Amino acid sequence: MRRMRQLLLLLLIGTAGYFGWMYRPVSPHPWSEADLDTLRSLWFESLPAPPEDLSNAVADDGRAALMGNRLFFDTRMSANGEVSCASCHDPDLEFTDGRHKGRGIGESKRNTRSVVASAYSPWLYWDGRRDSLWSQALSPLEDPNEHGSNRMHIVRFVTTEPTYKSMYAALFGPAPDFADSNRYPSAAAPGNNEELARAWRQMSQQDRQSVNRVFANIGKAIAAYERTLLPERSRFDDYVRAVIDDDRQRQQAVFSNDEVLGLQLFIGAARCTECHNGPLLTNDEFHNTAVLAFPGDLPDRGRIDGVREVIENEFNCLGEYSDDPQHRCPELTFVRTDPELVGAIRTPSLRNLARTGPFMHKGQIDSLAGVLEHYNRAPDAMIGHNEAKPLGLSRPQLRRLEAFLETLAAPSSR
Ligand code: HEC
Ligand code: HEC
Repeated sequence: MRRMRQLLLLLLIGTAGYFGWMYRPVSPHPWSEADLDTLRSLWFESLPAPPEDLSNAVADDGRAALMGNRLFFDTRMSANGEVSCASCHDPDLEFTDGRHKGRGIGESKRNTRSVVASAYSPWLYWDGRRDSLWSQALSPLEDPNEHGSNRMHIVRFVTTEPTYKSMYAALFGPAPDFADSNRYPSAAAPGNNEELARAWRQMSQQDRQSVNRVFANIGKAIAAYERTLLPERSRFDDYVRAVIDDDRQRQQAVFSNDEVLGLQLFIGAARCTECHNGPLLTNDEFHNTAVLAFPGDLPDRGRIDGVREVIENEFNCLGEYSDDPQHRCPELTFVRTDPELVGAIRTPSLRNLARTGPFMHKGQIDSLAGVLEHYNRAPDAMIGHNEAKPLGLSRPQLRRLEAFLETLAAPSSR
């Protein structure tokens, strides 16, 4: 009997201890005033509307967005009738494709970036070789590995297909008539394809300009649609709200201890916010973080080539197809071109990583754990200099950092 009582007592103490551990008093949140400022700066609620694009007169026109939406999912603009923008930018995968590199007619040179929130960046692509959404939209159409088409074919298609024809006219006025095959060949485009380039050169300067003008307008409609693809609130954003409200109970309900510790590392010892900052967790700048080349590829020269290309691009902000008569292009006018940009890659957003892998500019790294391993070691760069320093974090710390990154998941609006 006595024994029983002792045993019961022990059991009672044990259970009380266990529950005491589970329901220990709510701990004060670990954030200093400076941390709070950082958290607020990363918060979804700090994200303004996308900056206006003065070079695109229809950027925020709902009819243009409707036309752009159709074009985005239309396979008829591709050489084989099977590729659309959505072949690589799948809405179910946060507008990426789950592949190492994009796949259309052939294989793209790099990993597919998400289109969500791309309206916020002054530069597009991993190397920033375009300076607007509309000029970017034109290049997959002519890329032999993507849509594999040519601008003459595209402008003829869009200006004769009945639905597009009327949508186009409502937005931009009636399109020129491209029916005269003496003036307008069936296929033509500047660029590396000799046959297409020859046909292009044979056209008059004026006819080339009118083809370019319609081509640019098609890009502007697609851009209007892309501007509507915005991220949504994530669990991290709920946590920041709870911190700002000083609601400890809700903080604990929303974030586990590991996630809190991971966030502490992210904005602290791991120095991630040096580059992944602001509500989209990117500074949209170019950095060399020494990611290994894709097997069989030369090391990517990144921004140093991208900057040359954007300066030369005929559809850039300073060019004749911009809708801003004053050509206000501070980004392009004061663009950096220094040698530090060798191997520099544009920082990606960290929202929705669960559905945007494989990671890095060529999809070199398959998992988040692999990415963190890379930062922890910070190897020497194959080209240029690695800006990141080794972190020397322990396994549990890396796991917490990963747990935090996963809290940034939230499907985008579309
Ligand atoms: C064959 C696959 C493929 C197709 C088709 C394709 N893309 Fe992409 N897209 C990519 C790849 C790969 C990248 C990144 C390439 C790079 O940075 O060098 C990319 C990048 C982009 C970006 C840049 C995002 C950013 O933040 O830098 C946008 C915007 C985009 N594509 C829109 C489009 C549109 C619009 C179309 C259709 C007109 C299209 N894409 C067709 C594969 C594709
Ligand atoms: C010096 C700037 C810099 C720092 C510091 C930095 N990053 Fe990055 N991050 C980048 C750049 C640039 C890329 C793209 C690199 C590439 O593709 O070669 C990138 C890519 C990533 C990716 C892949 C995302 C994708 O969609 O492919 C993840 C995840 C990531 N970083 C997380 C982190 C974390 C976590 C930290 C802190 C440990 C961190 N980064 C620190 C600049 C930085």
